[in-house]
Amino acid sequence: MADGNITKDRMYGAVAPDDFESMLQLDRYGQRSDAFDKIIAATHDHFWDPLDPKYIDFDEPFDIETEAMMPEERTPLLRLPYVAETLKDPKERVRFINEGQLRNFSSILHGEQGALNLSASLCHVLYDQGAQEYAANQTREEARHVTAFAKYIKARWGRPVECGAVLKALLIEIVGSAEVYKKIVGMQMVLEGLAMGAFANGFKYNQDPLARKLFQLVMTDEAFHHKFGKIWADRTVPHMTEAERNIVEDWAAHCTQSLLFDRGSPEQNEALYAGFGLDPERVVADIVKRRAERDPTQRFKGETNVFRVLIKTLFNAGLITARTRSFYAAYVDLDELAAEGLRMPGDDIAEEGIRYLQGINFKDRAERGAAQLVAAE
Ligand SMILES: [Fe+2]
Ligand SMILES: [Fe+2]
Repeated sequence: MADGNITKDRMYGAVAPDDFESMLQLDRYGQRSDAFDKIIAATHDHFWDPLDPKYIDFDEPFDIETEAMMPEERTPLLRLPYVAETLKDPKERVRFINEGQLRNFSSILHGEQGALNLSASLCHVLYDQGAQEYAANQTREEARHVTAFAKYIKARWGRPVECGAVLKALLIEIVGSAEVYKKIVGMQMVLEGLAMGAFANGFKYNQDPLARKLFQLVMTDEAFHHKFGKIWADRTVPHMTEAERNIVEDWAAHCTQSLLFDRGSPEQNEALYAGFGLDPERVVADIVKRRAERDPTQRFKGETNVFRVLIKTLFNAGLITARTRSFYAAYVDLDELAAEGLRMPGDDIAEEGIRYLQGINFKDRAERGAAQLVAAE
């Protein structure tokens, strides 16, 4: 199809978002792709329900007043001289860390809402029923993520905070775009790449066992969403013309840059600083100064660094060429990434989570099966 979607494989063929009529063509029904059936079928193994305490219990307590959710060494803001000398009281430091986490979890919640609407919008444009079923299934999984993060925020803080302006603009752009490549690169590759890194970090360092459980359960789903993006890239990128690849490569860089701005804009947290009697301008000035002093190639070290996972995804997909290499090289060592191979740092956590869920789900099914047999007697 020679359209803005840059379709290279029939299973990703697409129509305009308002072209439902095309879905009614008779030949289409007999041509369902089975490329996603494994991912769709796996959904039963890693099923979980945020409303069922058998999987996760949001009543599990955590003393947010006295316990920091993240270790102090994971909160570099506290090491800024001005912040360190203003926030001396250990209780205030705990409150500062946990307020920062409220912002972090709120961004995740808004991102999950974006993922829900994005995958629902994929159902309207993807032409193949197998691809549609995949997208519908992802929509359902994103819906439970929205429910779960909303419940977590309610349990710990009562209410989320507003979506940051940069993230909001990116989500609106991706959800509203008509082209399939924009949706899949923007969500399944870039945003979910960032999410896999962020959730792996949360799983590793968050001190609240409920938060760690939540991250792991969500990752059992996200690993598959990320895989969908990878399958698309494998079947599309190598067949693109240079001009097409340039378009997609630029879009990926645009989405990544938005997220870098979102995470990297200290101005977005001015309300947080002000709430602790800090002069936001002084905090921002300190952050800018510290960044300028830091070795730029050392910025995103660490396997689970959120941007490192995202950039690795694009790199493995062939969406970083000489054209954009220097943009990404400012953040990570691309040669080091190239030497690492395909495995992602979140994969182990997701696999362990799936085994946990299989334990619950298979036991359930065995019991239900036995009950059905009794009923049939
Ligand atoms: Fe999600
Ligand atoms: Fe997802």
